[in-house]
Amino acid sequence: MHTSSPTFYIRDIPVHGNLILAPMDGYSDQPFRSLARKLGSALSYTEFINTLDVIHKQPRFLAERIAYTTDERPIVYQLLDNDPQRLLAAAQRLLPHQPDIFDINLGCSARSVSGRGAGAGLLKTPEKIATIFNLLSKNLPIPVTGKIRLGWDENTRNYQLVARIIEENGGQLIAVHGRTRAQQYSGQADWDAIAEIKQIVSIPVIANGDVQTVADIDRILAHTHCDGVMIGRAATTNPWIFSRLDRHQVSNAQVRQTLTEHLHANLQFYGPQRGMILFRKYASRYIQPHLPELLDPQLRLKLLTCTDPQTFLDLIAQIIP
Ligand SMILES: Cc1cc2nc3c(=O)[nH]c(=O)nc-3n(C[C@H](O)[C@H](O)[C@H](O)COP(=O)(O)O)c2cc1C
Repeated sequence: MHTSSPTFYIRDIPVHGNLILAPMDGYSDQPFRSLARKLGSALSYTEFINTLDVIHKQPRFLAERIAYTTDERPIVYQLLDNDPQRLLAAAQRLLPHQPDIFDINLGCSARSVSGRGAGAGLLKTPEKIATIFNLLSKNLPIPVTGKIRLGWDENTRNYQLVARIIEENGGQLIAVHGRTRAQQYSGQADWDAIAEIKQIVSIPVIANGDVQTVADIDRILAHTHCDGVMIGRAATTNPWIFSRLDRHQVSNAQVRQTLTEHLHANLQFYGPQRGMILFRKYASRYIQPHLPELLDPQLRLKLLTCTDPQTFLDLIAQIIP
């Protein structure tokens, strides 16, 4: 929820509120981020931006990834790479787009990323983390932050070391997903470890992992004493969580209204065809809580293959009356 006085600062940038939509490749695009911000998310992280796309210019793909609206400020561009100089070069090329903050992804567990030493792969090379944060924070005019996991696997949970390195080398905030790379998304996020990090650094710490309800928000804050909470998967079925509402507290009319606004924003951002196709994954998440009542598999199929926005909204009205 938005607050009038800042909840915390990222260096000199005030953040009003303690709930934040997590960066999610394929989900936290401009239309969804704007929606989350309207509902109360306090900060916007882009989906990860691969520095190779910046340097070798993938015009449309990159333009979509870095687009944001001014009401999303503060906007965080999240960078993915393990090469310090390439990260700096990419950040410098992105500066004219005026992001407020650069974040380094030290959490992506996908084999193609972490296997080559980027994302969570960086956790295996703490000396490189030091070089990256030192280089970027000294050479960029805006704050640099990091989003980490707890370590590579159970035997190398080096989160305390990594957090200290980030802070000592100029990092201005740490977001922590309470799992190791080996865990991917299995098991439970370890909130004790997040609490340990909060105790040993003085920069803001954002807690992340397995927050699904408003009660979870209060529990993770009480448990970790963190400055904020980052919510990922649960926000795709319940973006109203940023207004501190559980899904059952949201009326059908409110669901339909948000869904309609989101669809229109998607059509405008991606164009009518891609906008409709890309909206299907959100729609299937939004209607998930209504699925037990959705006995007709034909209707679901119709919805998820529909190409006309008005027909789509009519079908939604049938599913969520
Ligand atoms: C589909 C998907 C895409 C993700 N993409 C990113 C990403 O681009 N950058 C990142 O730092 N984390 C990414 N994550 C991790 C989330 O930011 C978050 O740390 C994780 O989902 C745990 O939070 P949750 O339990 O609230 O979902 C992604 C997660 C999911 C499920």
